[in-house]
Amino acid sequence: MADTIVVTDLVKSYESKNAVDGVTFSVADGEFFGILGPNGAGKTTTLEMIEGLREPDSGSVSLLGMSPWPRNSKLLPRIGVQLQASAFFEQLTAREQLHTFVDLYGQSMARVDELLEMVGLQDKAGTRAEKLSGGQAQRLSIACSLVNDPEVVFLDEPTAALDPQARRNLWDVLRDINDRGKTVVLTTHYMDEAESLCDRVAIMDNGKILQLGPPAVLVRGLDAPVRISVEQAVLDADSARGLPGADQVEQDGSSTIITTRTPSPVLSALAERDALDGLQVRGATLEDVFLDLTGREYRA
Ligand SMILES: Nc1ncnc2c1ncn2[C@@H]1O[C@H](COP(=O)(O)OP(=O)(O)O)[C@@H](O)[C@H]1O
Ligand SMILES: [Mg+2]
Repeated sequence: MADTIVVTDLVKSYESKNAVDGVTFSVADGEFFGILGPNGAGKTTTLEMIEGLREPDSGSVSLLGMSPWPRNSKLLPRIGVQLQASAFFEQLTAREQLHTFVDLYGQSMARVDELLEMVGLQDKAGTRAEKLSGGQAQRLSIACSLVNDPEVVFLDEPTAALDPQARRNLWDVLRDINDRGKTVVLTTHYMDEAESLCDRVAIMDNGKILQLGPPAVLVRGLDAPVRISVEQAVLDADSARGLPGADQVEQDGSSTIITTRTPSPVLSALAERDALDGLQVRGATLEDVFLDLTGREYRA
């Protein structure tokens, strides 16, 4: 199957700084693709060049087999774009906002209710946009990007500034959009979001892609040890040091932390000693991948 997006050696600089510094990747039809990186990494600039909103200095973009720059009117009906900062018409309710867009695209008015349902805003249809919560406003802006039933949807940090509950609720909406067969390209600075939603993720920093692949593969590639934590009252550090497979043991407050690359014998030994109370097992995450790639902590 042909790739929906092919980006080759894309470069964009402002003054002397390369905001995007030689980026190459492709996105398959129906894929949920993430660009993950801290603020200033170059995510928005990359996305906007793919969408045809910014002109690359060099390199090429193919979107649905076409070039998005100069502005390509054949592409516009086939893509949906949610910008990082979205604005609504003043004084209009959620339903009226969508009405306006549906009208612009010449769609039937039944589409408004479909869209409200798709993003879970039926109850808020009569609420004015400025009275919506952060999460609800993001849902509305996502609904606006879906009016034309696009094949490809671009979402630039849709969950930034939302509380954890609202973020998770929005994840369900995004998964649902992808389940309807749409190719989704999402930028985020949240590691857990990329890990949870994306089929593949490009980790970006300083205008470059450092690593690209399915989150689980990136994490596995680290070959990082597993941290097993048990309550100190159940097993103290001295006893833990004698366990088969325990590479390193430390005391952290009321927990005994065992680091191991062979968790099976450690877990069996803990079970034999009836020492599983309060047990927590933590493998590596994308955060560890970033740390490994850049040598520094991830600060979004
Ligand atoms: N219009 C612009 N003029 C000058 N510098 C810009 C402009 N847009 C982005 N930049 C710079 O390019 C870099 C990448 O920005 P951006 O693509 O917005 O990153 P991200 O979306 O990952 O936060 C940043 O250093 C930013 O300050
Ligand atoms: Mg951005």
